[in-house]
Amino acid sequence: MAKSYLKDVYDGGTNDSRELYASWAATYDKEVQKNGYVTPERVANALRDVVTDQSDFILDYGCGTGLSGSALQAVGFENIDGLDVSQEMVNLAEKKSIYKNLRVFDPSSKIPVHPDQYKIITAIGVIGAGAAPLQIFDSLFALLPPNGLFAFSFNDHTLSDPNYEKKVKQCLNSGNASILHKSYGNHLPKANLKSNIYILKKL
Ligand SMILES: C[S@@+](CC[C@H](N)C(=O)[O-])C[C@H]1O[C@@H](n2cnc3c(N)ncnc32)[C@H](O)[C@@H]1O
Repeated sequence: MAKSYLKDVYDGGTNDSRELYASWAATYDKEVQKNGYVTPERVANALRDVVTDQSDFILDYGCGTGLSGSALQAVGFENIDGLDVSQEMVNLAEKKSIYKNLRVFDPSSKIPVHPDQYKIITAIGVIGAGAAPLQIFDSLFALLPPNGLFAFSFNDHTLSDPNYEKKVKQCLNSGNASILHKSYGNHLPKANLKSNIYILKKL
């Protein structure tokens, strides 16, 4: 039987997680799908409901093996680029022919994206426990143009640290963003995990 990584991932905090995803890559899709992983579909549906032009370029930040990009493509988004820090995860995404461009970068360096390059940035299952640190929120938000959309999720493990929700509230209270969507629902239902999904519009 393949090793289960779901527990390790949430125990691992947000230090460099590349080793973990390098080992998990080969069985990631199978394990999360077995547990009913549905956050990508929830974000994709919510985004489709607020976007007028589905040919807008999307950056799927922390694209992993492409499950998030696949959900975006399934609801009609046409131009999706993927970026991640794990070569092993991206190697699998590459085989699925979802992304127009796919890149791997070193998380200790700057995110290799120009400001205003993407009208929409997604971070699905990426920020928080077991993956990218909270500072990534500001880095990604800063890359959006005015009216750009930021769609992301925080799972229950992440939400148990109040700093994540506080960050969203600060962003809204500062007048830099409005909220177009927020809902709490299934994440990995067979592992009894839920998530909040959010869509913020940069003002
Ligand atoms: C739980 S997976 C989610 C992958 C994909 N979005 C999905 O929904 O299946 C988390 C991903 O975040 C990536 N990741 C971890 N730290 C990151 C960082 N600092 N910047 C970008 N991606 C990161 C991991 O390599 C992994 O592919």
